[in-house]
Amino acid sequence: MKKHVVVYKQLSAPLMDRLRAAADVTVIEEPKGAGLAALKEALPTAHGLLGASLKIDSSLLALAPRLEVISSVSVGIDNYDVEALTRRGVQLTHTPDVLTETTADTGFALLMATARRVVELARWVRDGQWQASLGPAHFGTDVHGKTLGIVGMGRIGQALAQRGHFGFNMPVLYHSHRPRPEADRHFGARHCGLDDLLRGSDFVCLTLPLTEATRGLIGERELALMKPGAILVNIARGPVVDEPALIAALQGGRLRGAGLDVFTQEPLSADSPLLRLDNVVATPHIGSATDETREAMAACAVDNLLAVLAGQPPLNPANEVAR
Ligand code: DGY
Repeated sequence: MKKHVVVYKQLSAPLMDRLRAAADVTVIEEPKGAGLAALKEALPTAHGLLGASLKIDSSLLALAPRLEVISSVSVGIDNYDVEALTRRGVQLTHTPDVLTETTADTGFALLMATARRVVELARWVRDGQWQASLGPAHFGTDVHGKTLGIVGMGRIGQALAQRGHFGFNMPVLYHSHRPRPEADRHFGARHCGLDDLLRGSDFVCLTLPLTEATRGLIGERELALMKPGAILVNIARGPVVDEPALIAALQGGRLRGAGLDVFTQEPLSADSPLLRLDNVVATPHIGSATDETREAMAACAVDNLLAVLAGQPPLNPANEVAR
């Protein structure tokens, strides 16, 4: 008999065909409201779950006594209680590697857009305000040659370092739980403490996972350590930053700006003070959101799920990923 899989993320037709050939599939369009109720109804017979952006808490897990695998279409695993899954013998898998370059592109796009005020000035032109040549009130700041500080030097951090070092001649500082000699070798990067990185960087980019240890890592004290006029880029997770403290630092002019792809609450509320600040470039968690990369992530998630249901080791197990 085929196993039962619940999919709560839109998949392309070829991937759905692959899943349907191997399993009985229940598709949940959006796991909210009626969709969430349908998901809960499907859980008692589910052997596999595939999706993203849904917190799988203990009450959902309790509804799924047959669950063997959760295949997350994401690299981040902060939506899962990994210890509880491991205790229950549920294999968690994720999708690293395939999104590394695209997510680093997003980070660099936010860095550039914030430094050169691309979004603010494009809006200004569109509003018909470009009446004369620009003066200093509209100047941005250079990126090339400035110091790039990367917090979290995993795959995405290293892809950012590559862009900064080779593309923009930037000295690279990084902070991570262990030195990465390969980053030192390839990008001339220097491992340092968080405080030294904050004091020494013109651009601070956050690329680390959200865990209990990293929640609130960048608060009022850390923001105050940053160079006056520095720029913060967050492509990690919103709760890594104390958002009210960041808003205060931006409003007070302590920071030049922030490029933010992630927020404490997502979707970001339209009345967030962040959206009233010209020096903030806010994007809707687009880190890996390109046609090519999202398809590659979904394919990776399908591979992982089918491997586990077939009794094989998945390519990307996440229960043991350092937290
Ligand atoms: C990831 O893959 O973790 C992205 O941030 C999307 O959630």
